[in-house]
Amino acid sequence: MQRKQSPIVDLCVQIASRPIELKERQQSALGSVIPLLICGEQSAITVFNDASQHGSPVARSLHHVFSSIEADEIVHEAAWQTLFAQLPDPQNLRQLKRRAALFFARLGRSPSIAEHFAQIAHLDSAVGTIMWHLERSDVARDKRIADLAREVKQDEARHVAVSRHYAFAAGIERARYADLGEKVRSSLIALLTPNADAIEGIGIDPAALFKRIDKKECR
Ligand SMILES: [Fe+2]
Ligand SMILES: [Fe+2]
Repeated sequence: MQRKQSPIVDLCVQIASRPIELKERQQSALGSVIPLLICGEQSAITVFNDASQHGSPVARSLHHVFSSIEADEIVHEAAWQTLFAQLPDPQNLRQLKRRAALFFARLGRSPSIAEHFAQIAHLDSAVGTIMWHLERSDVARDKRIADLAREVKQDEARHVAVSRHYAFAAGIERARYADLGEKVRSSLIALLTPNADAIEGIGIDPAALFKRIDKKECR
């Protein structure tokens, strides 16, 4: 069965077709946050591509689901890249990319598939929280950004469900799953904290965002 085209593909065209309608300082702030999201999407593409090729019976039964998530992540990355191309380059781009790359590399160093996917479930859940805030932020005044945040949030909710299912099918214990959630949430907050000014600049209260990420339990 052919998969329906993601509405994000059309949003990419809309974003590329005309300049972002935001104040200069909001554009700069957004430009300092998006590289972190791009790095996350790139890492997710690799993770789900690997998962779609994994030979275990559980992974084989989820092959199509993993491929469809990989396709989602490719579209997400394209959308953030399209938006980023419309914004001024941040001064600390190399440093931002390096910090994000380290974060995702550490996440990839899980001892087992079950633990790795537990962490992905928790991370995608936190990304959903970030999207929830982005959808209601000042930069969502440009409707294309609000629409993009909403669509990504909906996709991430599906990714959470699949990753969580896979983690438990691959044998993770409930207590370990919860521990990894705490670990992922605190490392994500540590990754985002140096960007608190930029987060504030796009109209999201960083303290409220971090609190919400911290409290969110992905069951
Ligand atoms: Fe994504
Ligand atoms: Fe995802």
